Amino acid sequence: MSRSPVGRETERVDGRLKVTGAAEYSGDYRAPDLAHAHLVTSTIARGTLTGIDTAAALASPGVLRVYAAPDTRLGLYPITGPLAGFVENYVPLRDAEVHFHGQAIAMVVAETPEQARDAAARVTATYDTRPPRTSLADEPHVPAGPTISGSPSSLNILAPGVASIDAALAASDVVVEAEFHQQMQHHAAMEPHAVLAVWKGDQVTIHAGAQVPSAYALGTAQRIGVPPQNVRLITKYVGGAFGARVILWSDTPLAAAAAREIGRPVRLVLTREQMFTLTGHRPQLTQTVRLGASRDGVLNAISHQSVSERPTTVTFPMTPAHATTDALYRTPNLHVDAQLAVLDIPGSRAMRGPNEAPGSFALETAMDELAVATGVDPVELRLRNYATKSPSTGLPWSSKHLEECYRVGARRFGWSGRSAKPRSRVDGQWLYGTGMATAIYPAHRRAASVRIRLLEDDTAVVSTGISDFGTGGATMVGISGADALGIPLTRVTPEIGDTLLPQGAPAAGSSATHATVPLIVRAARDAINELKRLAVTDDRSPWRGASADDLRYERGVLHGQGRSMTFGSLLAAVDSPGITALAESAGDPDPRYVHHSFGAHFCEVRVNRFTGETRVTRFTTVADVGRVINSRAARSQLVGGVIFGIGHALLEENPLEPDTGRLASSTLADYLVPVSADVPDIDVHLLGRPDPVLTGPLGDGSEEVGTRSLGARGLGEIGTVGSAAAIGNAVHNATGIRVRDVPITLDKLI
Ligand code: MOS
Repeated sequence: MSRSPVGRETERVDGRLKVTGAAEYSGDYRAPDLAHAHLVTSTIARGTLTGIDTAAALASPGVLRVYAAPDTRLGLYPITGPLAGFVENYVPLRDAEVHFHGQAIAMVVAETPEQARDAAARVTATYDTRPPRTSLADEPHVPAGPTISGSPSSLNILAPGVASIDAALAASDVVVEAEFHQQMQHHAAMEPHAVLAVWKGDQVTIHAGAQVPSAYALGTAQRIGVPPQNVRLITKYVGGAFGARVILWSDTPLAAAAAREIGRPVRLVLTREQMFTLTGHRPQLTQTVRLGASRDGVLNAISHQSVSERPTTVTFPMTPAHATTDALYRTPNLHVDAQLAVLDIPGSRAMRGPNEAPGSFALETAMDELAVATGVDPVELRLRNYATKSPSTGLPWSSKHLEECYRVGARRFGWSGRSAKPRSRVDGQWLYGTGMATAIYPAHRRAASVRIRLLEDDTAVVSTGISDFGTGGATMVGISGADALGIPLTRVTPEIGDTLLPQGAPAAGSSATHATVPLIVRAARDAINELKRLAVTDDRSPWRGASADDLRYERGVLHGQGRSMTFGSLLAAVDSPGITALAESAGDPDPRYVHHSFGAHFCEVRVNRFTGETRVTRFTTVADVGRVINSRAARSQLVGGVIFGIGHALLEENPLEPDTGRLASSTLADYLVPVSADVPDIDVHLLGRPDPVLTGPLGDGSEEVGTRSLGARGLGEIGTVGSAAAIGNAVHNATGIRVRDVPITLDKLI
């Protein structure tokens, strides 16, 4: 008898293919007569191209084309309509304007990748250069205006009789004010962006890693000037994304347009250096947090202001740094405001809890400072300010067990033995200390669709065009399908990563699981109802003429009138090609509730007294992410998120050279991310409390099929939010030094 796989430790359905090298990533696909493209990028940040010398490149062996800006042969267009605010607002290679250092200015296509790369190195450009705007501090600050996430960029909520946030702060017994800085950070996914474009008539098939395949395909169609139905995007295996593949960049349209122009399949792979300027980054950010509280730590006012960048090539920012500040703590007075400075730098977009992670670093560090100022334990301080309704909207949460995260986390970590006095614990050369922080991430509803097919061989295919960039999304689809149909996971084939499939939820913003699971349950129910209908109507069915109500479906088998048949044997008996059910959702939010995932991080660090070297030695994360579909993949996501937090706190930054607008780091040797030696054993505990609203119950008679998978909520980014602050707070506890400019490098600790 099969047990539901929901919540168990399930190996990824594609795990073996990935670790044995059998999984084909976008750059692995071959096509007959394949040509290879390589980009040439700008060496200035702002100005106009006055000429590109392509003669040497054209004379190089194997070269088929050199497209140089301004190019007219590629046939690329601006993107308009709803996608316009998301994607870059300039057309690659079409004009002579240079908007940032590292922008594509030419593309070589040759017979081999080596020939293309070699010829690209022979392309030279001359420019009419203007001084780039590169300083967040010096350029004028303007209100952030509309954001892509829809979060307001400014809010001012004041208690009756309070004149301003400044007045509320001035009236508070204790005030903490702190300013935070961080440079750009990069996704650093293992697989570089790679595109293969193959035309057949007026149809193009594209292999490329994409987190939102439908939007990637639609954007590509607009860029290359063809109807959306002429573009098929396949994105089956993706070697990490972390936001770099949410929106369409220039690589995919360039490859598709070159393939069309030369009449051969074209593959374009970005170099690691090009990944730093052509696929987005987390914006640089300055934040000021002010907290006003009573002497016993009860908040009276929260103010969170930020200044971030607006690269000239993107129209709207992602989401403001304060995006979760307006949802975390109870306070009668709340002020949040985001400003931007227009800069001549590469486009910034989503990256690993895009602005929630840096925003929480500021708020959660300031909360630690308030704990120190009031002498209230950091966990107790958060409990004293616990919100049961969203401070900005007044709405309740669909499900919130943050209090339990604090309690369970403190117990697992051994928080009670902590010394609150900074720099009070020494072990030889090492100072050590502990810190904690809260995690919060919104659970957005997103449009999605799922198709289930029941087949004659007693297997089911569950299809949805999501992308699995290492998250375990395909396995989630399989587990939920197996659960909803009551059959073993081995009899379910998840089908994802193709725009020919029903449109999947975005694999972004931690929303794919909770968008997809209820639709799988609904499609399964509809498929089973259709199976029963077939059983009582088809001449060849033994139940012909019975009522569907007389039939019971259980674990892949129909029972009724003393007879039982598996769905496959019934389909075979009636000679059916299979049963198909489609479930779709527009992803409308439920206006009665707010939805977030929550967590609590606890951390121990050791800091070398003489060198300032910091080591994270213990880490416990307890997360409230609804029902867990796959314990193994969920824990892995949380561990990965905490590792991002270690990078954020201790290692990652990419400053600009102010005069040239050039990024300081362009390889994984100088852009540092945590390696195994930087990462301790991370203790992750998932509460597993189902969210009764966000994903059901469906409440419409679906109880007969499995509903154990309902109640799930997103967990992709929650590990990244707050983890850097927990580390910084532990560093303060260990050393007495408060570092507000990440990364906390050793020079800041000695
Ligand atoms: Mo996420 S930063 O929406 O990939």
